[in-house]
Amino acid sequence: MKSYRAPGGAPIRVLDGVDLAVPRGRLALVLGASGSGKSTLLNVVGLLEDAEGGDVIVGGERVSALGRSAQGRARGRYIGFVFQSFLLLPSLTALDNVLLAARYARRARLDARRRARELLAEFGVLERQAHYPPQLSGGEQQRVAFCRAVLNDPPLLLADEPTGNLDDANGRVILEALRARARAGAAVVVVSHRADAVGAADAVYHMREGRLEPGPSTSGGGPS
Ligand SMILES: Nc1ncnc2c1ncn2[C@@H]1O[C@H](COP(=O)(O)OP(=O)(O)OP(=O)(O)O)[C@@H](O)[C@H]1O
Ligand SMILES: [Mg+2]
Repeated sequence: MKSYRAPGGAPIRVLDGVDLAVPRGRLALVLGASGSGKSTLLNVVGLLEDAEGGDVIVGGERVSALGRSAQGRARGRYIGFVFQSFLLLPSLTALDNVLLAARYARRARLDARRRARELLAEFGVLERQAHYPPQLSGGEQQRVAFCRAVLNDPPLLLADEPTGNLDDANGRVILEALRARARAGAAVVVVSHRADAVGAADAVYHMREGRLEPGPSTSGGGPS
């Protein structure tokens, strides 16, 4: 359960008895109208916001019960997050924004740089690696943010409207990359108000008035 109280207003119940289990190797898509609570759900799962009740369990560990700093470490190690508003640091170049994720990775610095460049190339933004976020288009920022989220190959990947700023071709590249993460064994959760990711999903849910309902079954697009 999660509710918000605006100053002077009655509390709004944004999440209410939501139960979502995403096995490794699967991509779950949560659809819902604007304001239905999709970002809130992802923020709670991603340990960015506390809920008033319920648990978040990642890889068998009840991470919602950990203290703040342990949660921060768990987030760095296990969770990749593609934010709806990208949240790139304006004082860092595109490349250094991607490398932010490497702070938690047990991998050599040079190796992280090589991998970061590979990802930027894969998503067509390598020529923009030295640009600062204000010098990038919205779609370029979204792709850089995606590179940052997947740099460490996180076992749990959370993506908030990951194609929201992209043209069809780049949107397909991102959806295929999300699928590839699931194929490689990650649990992937995508939230969106657009249905363009339905074909990439193993399971589809709808957020309605704070509740999560199973959506239409997909046409067998899951991994075998
Ligand atoms: N910090 C907050 N304080 C008060 N209300 C909030 C807060 N954050 C979100 N809300 C409200 O909670 C509801 C759900 O917001 P949320 O961002 O989860 O929606 P969403 O489904 O992601 O929408 P969108 O598709 O527009 O991104 C909205 O009605 C919003 O106004
Ligand atoms: Mg949202």
